[in-house]
Amino acid sequence: MASLSLSLPAFSSSRPLARSSNERQALFSRIAPVYDNLNDLLSLGQHRIWKRMAISWSAARKGDWVLDLCCGSGDLAFLLSQKVGFEGKVTGLDFSREQLSIASARQDSFWKPCYKNIAWIEGDALDLPFPDSYFDAITVGYGLRNLVDKHAAMKEVFRVLKPGSRVSILDFNKSTNSSVVFIQEWMINNVVVPVASNYGLAEEYTYLKSSIDNFLTGKELEKLANELGFSKARHYEIGGGLMGNLVATR
Ligand SMILES: C[S@@+](CC[C@H](N)C(=O)[O-])C[C@H]1O[C@@H](n2cnc3c(N)ncnc32)[C@H](O)[C@@H]1O
Repeated sequence: MASLSLSLPAFSSSRPLARSSNERQALFSRIAPVYDNLNDLLSLGQHRIWKRMAISWSAARKGDWVLDLCCGSGDLAFLLSQKVGFEGKVTGLDFSREQLSIASARQDSFWKPCYKNIAWIEGDALDLPFPDSYFDAITVGYGLRNLVDKHAAMKEVFRVLKPGSRVSILDFNKSTNSSVVFIQEWMINNVVVPVASNYGLAEEYTYLKSSIDNFLTGKELEKLANELGFSKARHYEIGGGLMGNLVATR
């Protein structure tokens, strides 16, 4: 049985968006059983390519200690595990116990020897249970957009990264290009929500649109990272501009 270390999440008092942390936690727990299938279906498998790109941008290497923040069912953590190998250590952190249970079950069922290097921790991205300068690399896949306080989360990422190390943050791109915005909205209204409604999750996936509206553009993400003290920050548009990946070096 894979290790599942549980600790009580500590929530931030900040509530800049309509939905609270507790409501988001409940939402991600509800979608956990179908999350992986829907990702494959809705992205036509493309999310696997974008996740590999995110891993490569993290510059994680053999022997590194790495964090996959907001790990969900663990896609990025499994890729990191193969990168850092037996000598390395991967921590997957999420505040949804249901998502972590699925990650742990996948760790058992897709067993590869290196997966022994993964530990799952239930915790809050806004109050990370790690010492300063602890990780050699951090990945965040579709997590930052869902956090109620992005500034606090990035501050925590900066704190627990070693100087010179990178965070790679993959997410939907809040585009400033009106054609991309149109396509993104059309896809959500005409593909994502109708497909999700077949699983009884229309409301949960309608939230996607407001979460993108409330997210930061690539330039704003770069600015936030620079203000927090990252020495380099570059946002790359991928998937025809529908997705984006921020790469920031502490
Ligand atoms: C869209 S899923 C992404 C999962 C995974 N990284 C992936 O790329 O497939 C977002 C995840 O962020 C987690 N999450 C949201 N807010 C969080 C917080 N404050 N602390 C920890 N995890 C959080 C949710 O539970 C959910 O599993």
